[in-house]
Amino acid sequence: MAAHRVLVTAGPTREWYDSVRFLTNASTGKMGYAMARAARDRGFEVTLVSGPVQLRPVEGVKTVPIESARDLRKAVLALVDGVDTVIMAAAVSDYRPARRVSGKLSKRRGGPGAVGLVPNPDILKELGKRRGRPTLVGFALEAADLERRAKAKLRDKRLDWIVANGPDALGSGRSSVLVLGSDGQRVEIPEASKATVARRLIHIVCP
Ligand code: CTP
Repeated sequence: MAAHRVLVTAGPTREWYDSVRFLTNASTGKMGYAMARAARDRGFEVTLVSGPVQLRPVEGVKTVPIESARDLRKAVLALVDGVDTVIMAAAVSDYRPARRVSGKLSKRRGGPGAVGLVPNPDILKELGKRRGRPTLVGFALEAADLERRAKAKLRDKRLDWIVANGPDALGSGRSSVLVLGSDGQRVEIPEASKATVARRLIHIVCP
């Protein structure tokens, strides 16, 4: 039987507004890389689309480097038809500067505020609308009202699973998550290393 094929996205995106500066977030990519490793260890064929991170590549996993949310979208759309499951662990910047100025946007020119922000495409939401789509797994980082907001995202983006965690997981080697399925399943994974949490998650979303 052909191996289950999994696409994992990980890490932050980088949205440049001049030649030397960009908007980003504090994602380290650890959870996404742990998911890629856990999926590989199950014998799955894994592709990892990764924003800029300080992590060692995952052996046996093809890694596609990206920077911006639009790069990420392009890479995901090029790969999605060939996979059974998409795990979107990337911390995608919801906004990007409206343009990239060449050189340096000095204070005299108004700084980044002078450029303005425009919304980035919501990649998962777009995947959720496709016919014949793979199983979709989203992540939600919620500072408050975790379960209600995660449930709303699960529905809104038409996902099969959402993995919700609090802001403490950011940058940490450990995490605890709440997993919600579109079929009403609800699993709490208590605090453990991200490697352990990832193994348990893979068993839930790719049984
Ligand atoms: N995501 C995406 N495309 C975006 C933004 C997020 O595919 N432009 C994915 C993330 O990879 C993650 C999930 O959607 O799996 C997070 O959902 P989202 O609603 O974007 O979370 P937040 O950005 O935290 O939303 P909000 O700031 O509104 O709470």
